[in-house]
Amino acid sequence: MEGGLPSHVAVIMDGNGRWAKARGQARIQGHRKGVEMVRELVAACAEKGIRAVTLFAFSSENWRRPRLEVRLLRQLFLFALDREITKLHDNDIQFRAIGDIGAFGPEIVQRVRDAEAMTCHNKRLRLTIAANYGGRWDIAQACARVALEVRAGTLEPAAITPDTLVPYLSMADVPEPDLFIRTGGEQRISNFLLWQLAYTELYFTPVLWPDFDRKQFDLALESFAGRQRRFGRTGDQVEAAWRA
Ligand code: IPE
Ligand code: IPE
Ligand code: MG
Repeated sequence: MEGGLPSHVAVIMDGNGRWAKARGQARIQGHRKGVEMVRELVAACAEKGIRAVTLFAFSSENWRRPRLEVRLLRQLFLFALDREITKLHDNDIQFRAIGDIGAFGPEIVQRVRDAEAMTCHNKRLRLTIAANYGGRWDIAQACARVALEVRAGTLEPAAITPDTLVPYLSMADVPEPDLFIRTGGEQRISNFLLWQLAYTELYFTPVLWPDFDRKQFDLALESFAGRQRRFGRTGDQVEAAWRA
């Protein structure tokens, strides 16, 4: 009667830099190891029958990092995309990117669009990478598109409800995350999926992302499985609905 297996898992993969620093390595080494862990997590999700996984790869605030780190992250993203996309496709995984990716330049935009087109009919697992993404940006861009309807005269401002906005949000075609995981010890959302996390179960772990292996993922899933999701109702109501 409790959570069971989440359908959609969203992850803030944090702690790469600290992982590398603790080993006396450059931060990029932590990001490289982080990409390996992404591969592991995606494989685990596919094997377990999880339907969607959404990963925060680069926030709209991460441009504040040293230029060298931003440049290396961009390179790593391109490299990983090129290397992994056919494997994802062979495993029936659909790839999508959300965020204002134009800022990374036309080369990345083209490669991302190609990867999306190649995998768009795949059904096993939906992998979404959030890059130059911010939850506030997402809500603002949705509002801008709703405003076009108002201007065109097809929508009355007074008729706008939360449901009006949903089709315009970046993740409109995927149900909201059931489980949110943040590694690296920080207990904050850092402008990730603000709208969609309204009723998501939150799981924070001090484990750094490069150490977040299958065992750690299983702990997060176990924690989720033991939770009762009430969506505003009482615990008794939820129990009764299960008995009915
Ligand atoms: C998360 O790890 C990866 C990205 C933001 C790209 P960090 O790079 O934030 O690692 P810490 O938090 O400095 O350890
Ligand atoms: C959040 O991590 C963004 C990503 C993991 C991509 P940060 O390390 O950038 O978050 P803050 O700055 O500690 O909140
Ligand atoms: Mg960090």
